Amino acid sequence: MHKAQKEIKEALPKVDVVIEVVDARIPYSSTNPAVAEIIAKEHQKKPVIRLLNKSDLADPETTRLWCEYFESLDDSKAIPVTSKKPEQIKKLLKLCHELVPERNTSLKPINAMIMGIPNVGKSTIINILSGRKLATVGNEPAVTKRQQKIHLDSNIVLHDTPGFLWPKIHNKNSSYRLAVTGAIKDTVIEYDDIAYYAAEYLLQAYPEKLKENFKLDSLPDDVTELLESIGRRRGCITGGKRVDIDRVCKILIHEFRDCTIGPISLETPTMIEQELIEVEEAIRKKAEKDAARKKRRKK
Ligand code: G4P
Repeated sequence: MHKAQKEIKEALPKVDVVIEVVDARIPYSSTNPAVAEIIAKEHQKKPVIRLLNKSDLADPETTRLWCEYFESLDDSKAIPVTSKKPEQIKKLLKLCHELVPERNTSLKPINAMIMGIPNVGKSTIINILSGRKLATVGNEPAVTKRQQKIHLDSNIVLHDTPGFLWPKIHNKNSSYRLAVTGAIKDTVIEYDDIAYYAAEYLLQAYPEKLKENFKLDSLPDDVTELLESIGRRRGCITGGKRVDIDRVCKILIHEFRDCTIGPISLETPTMIEQELIEVEEAIRKKAEKDAARKKRRKK
């Protein structure tokens, strides 16, 4: 991960435009803080385009709010895209030229760098832009490993960077959201844990979608009761006539991921602003505690 960040920093001076791909369902949690830092430092000099990919899976109204939020933050361009509409993604080439107009009359190509944490759909986007199958697209995160230069039409060279995950996730909600969307490998997570997280959120944010998808007349307030109701509806009953909660958890996560429940966003700008305040407070308290412990040890 450090190697990838170092490579990005080294390559950036030669880059004319930075493209960051995020998952439209979790635009904040799928942003690598290191990338955000690099972008913040470089932004004065480079135009930045944020692609909110997989917008077909996200709540359109929340995606609109996210685009507004990002554009107000740092004057970057934020665009919802989906690989289901390749023509939408191809418009990126024109946008690069608009953002780097000095190259329109030059023979020198526009150097664009594309970044994104694994599973946001970066390889899929590169394949669409290049019209070839270049990077391996797979269902396990972190498939793209090598840095590569791709010559696109319209005199643009795309510098692909290896997918790299978060160095440290301070916001525990972000870890859950990354797991719910599948960005964190299924082998390192407990389905029950993330399904409880997702169920609690859906109950509060998308009650109607839950009712409709699982054909429930009413919704309980309690998450376990909700999962039991879903289990009874779907016939997830064990020998002892008890609801098989493990099976229900898998169903809930799979139906969220494949959009059967409907287009859903797991975070909004307002939620993140509040969480960031809480995270900062927790970091501050931890630093105070650590300092006090150090002092005691010294004594
Ligand atoms: P990465 O390079 O960022 O790691 O991601 P990659 O392109 O490998 O895409 C990860 C998964 O996300 C792939 O699904 C891909 O098809 C899917 N995907 C990419 N863009 C979109 C999008 O805009 N909408 C939707 N709904 N899905 C998208 P997979 O099931 O892991 O692989 P595959 O069976 O499609 O090959």
